[in-house]
Amino acid sequence: MLKIGNIEMKNQVVLAPMAGVCNPAFRLIAKEFGAGLVCAEMVSDKAILHGNQKSLSMLYVDEREKPLSLQIFGGEKETLVEAAKFVDKNTNADIIDINMGCPVPKITKCDAGARWLLDPNKIYEMVAATVEAVDKPVTVKMRIGWDSDHIYAVENARAVERAGGSAVAVHGRTRVQMYEGVADWNIIKEVKESVNIPVIGNGDVTTPQEARRMLDETGVDGVMIGRAALGNPWMLYQTIQYLENGTLAEEPSPREKIDVCMVHLDRLIKLKGENVAVREMRKHAAWYLKGMRGGGRVRDKINSFESRADVATTLYSFVEELEAQMVEQSSAV
Ligand SMILES: Cc1cc2nc3c(=O)[nH]c(=O)nc-3n(C[C@H](O)[C@H](O)[C@H](O)COP(=O)(O)O)c2cc1C
Repeated sequence: MLKIGNIEMKNQVVLAPMAGVCNPAFRLIAKEFGAGLVCAEMVSDKAILHGNQKSLSMLYVDEREKPLSLQIFGGEKETLVEAAKFVDKNTNADIIDINMGCPVPKITKCDAGARWLLDPNKIYEMVAATVEAVDKPVTVKMRIGWDSDHIYAVENARAVERAGGSAVAVHGRTRVQMYEGVADWNIIKEVKESVNIPVIGNGDVTTPQEARRMLDETGVDGVMIGRAALGNPWMLYQTIQYLENGTLAEEPSPREKIDVCMVHLDRLIKLKGENVAVREMRKHAAWYLKGMRGGGRVRDKINSFESRADVATTLYSFVEELEAQMVEQSSAV
């Protein structure tokens, strides 16, 4: 089982932190679909310390989401530690995670995110100072290295462990790869064999069977799922069930998908107001519609909508169309 510090997860399936996605609206859905641990989107240490309202609102945790991990990023020890202290004292998150994988130049130029991967000593120093300053367990999410010539995953994970980090999540790509190529699970396995703290494997788990394969081949303590859960929280539920008893739960019907899509939208509206939520929902709606015949046409329409009512009417009339087609097909057989 996956245990981080003294926090025990009820299963090994972890929702990956995803900026612009993992706010309470989606995290709660992931939790309802059974995720053992949900991770929040990254928040800037400096923005927290400047009292930036948007960033502070990103630290909100609903009781129902727990256990939950809040992720911060930064490039300097003083601000990182101060932000971690703020999260420690002022939020009900269970875990403080440090981002050491973000590949975006805006972040790495500030010596944050994946930039750390080049320097195990810095990792040790930053993590040790953070662990020292807070009560909550501190974890790190990293990529395997900066580029194929600088893969220090084992050294970096050892540095996290020596510094008192409670777990490490490893995305099997380098910074230079961004999201290209294939995640290297062999390096994740090497990390698992090199440290005694829990290791969570991440990268390219797209099906429940792949989750099983990652656990079996690398020996990791948990599997972290990102993109495969976008618009598809059923993936989390199916994976949990498959890991538990080897059975594959049925795919959801179009109506079930749209019902959850609307729950997601309604929660976003509560969080951010209708205007922002409907715009933010455009990308999610496209993900929920993926794989539905004719979904592209509906997605294009939704991209121009600004009200909940328009989104709901269009999605449900599309579902009715699909259901009528299914009835026609089954009566033709
Ligand atoms: C839209 C998006 C946003 C992301 N934001 C974050 C983030 O805030 N923090 C982080 O550590 N990783 C972030 N990631 C990386 C994911 O957590 C994960 O490592 C990556 O997607 C690989 O896992 P997957 O193959 O299951 O998607 C993000 C990924 C995506 C697709």
